[in-house]
Amino acid sequence: MDKIQLFKERIETLIENYNFSGTPKELYDPIVYTMKQKGKRLRPLLCMLACDLFGGDVKKVEYPALAAEVFHNFTLIHDDIMDRAPLRRGVETVYKKWNQDIAILAGDTMFAMAYQLAMQTDYKNIRKVLNTLSRVAIQVCEGQQLDLNFEQQENVSIADYLEMIRLKTAVLLGGSLEIGATIANVDDTTLQAIYEFGVTIGIAFQLQDDLLDVYGNYDVFGKITGGDITTNKKTYLYLQALEVADDATRQQLLDFYSDNYPLHFENKIQEVTAIFNKLGVKELVEQVMNDYYNKGIERLNRISVSEDKKETLLKYVNILYSRDH
Ligand code: IPE
Ligand code: IPE
Ligand code: MG
Ligand code: MG
Ligand code: MG
Repeated sequence: MDKIQLFKERIETLIENYNFSGTPKELYDPIVYTMKQKGKRLRPLLCMLACDLFGGDVKKVEYPALAAEVFHNFTLIHDDIMDRAPLRRGVETVYKKWNQDIAILAGDTMFAMAYQLAMQTDYKNIRKVLNTLSRVAIQVCEGQQLDLNFEQQENVSIADYLEMIRLKTAVLLGGSLEIGATIANVDDTTLQAIYEFGVTIGIAFQLQDDLLDVYGNYDVFGKITGGDITTNKKTYLYLQALEVADDATRQQLLDFYSDNYPLHFENKIQEVTAIFNKLGVKELVEQVMNDYYNKGIERLNRISVSEDKKETLLKYVNILYSRDH
């Protein structure tokens, strides 16, 4: 069997066999609900792929990999409150299905669960693994705060946006690879290199998420399309549109993203998408995304480890590149 498929199945089995339930059930039910959903399992997969890349014992990365997935799912539960998102992975979000208080507590619990899981590896690597997890967790919060700030902030540059997505999304991909490589006992220079590869791919990954938010097929994407437009997210699409628009169109966009736009939401999504289409913003952002994917691949190629070992990771980058959800 293909290694990617093998690791994926291993992750699903780990999740299935791990006991996420408990009492009071009001606390644990949303955790079980979230963990049993079919996410892409990208972060645990990156943990395993990195460990394997450097010849580590993948068994030893299983629980830290699960930690990365639990941590990620915690951020999603809280993110959906912040983004007022009703759907994820094709089903109701936790705060919608239950309520906001329950979503906050379930998330808090999962954050702690992630640490319990991350500790379950070789004693000598625990400190390093927890350090990576903590560093990245704080950065994710920084990124999420910037994302919220930008909803209100008028002047957001493309550089500001890139830094925001580096923090909220990319560092966790880098961190997952770093954890896998740590457990394979690589040196610090290699650790840094694999982390940076992940961050670069992670920026491409978030650009793609922003593209899918507008252009994805709702049934496949599993989230409400146009959600970023509704909530005035300053995505690359929006910022790029402002850059290339003529004065009148730019003013239109600014009006749409001002606080109390009078039109019904549906209209806003349609009209903003029409402007994006007119300006060819999709293609422009796809180009930037491609550049980051390519830069990531270059970074991976510069890491000295046998070519056939790299192949699996490169193959996975390609799977990500052509994802539709
Ligand atoms: C969603 O992450 C949040 C982002 C960082 C874009 P994923 O796209 O990895 O979500 P799942 O886990 O596969 O549902
Ligand atoms: C999410 O970014 C990043 C984190 C959850 C930390 P988004 O808000 O774009 O993610 P989705 O689109 O809701 O999955
Ligand atoms: Mg968000
Ligand atoms: Mg969101
Ligand atoms: Mg999104």
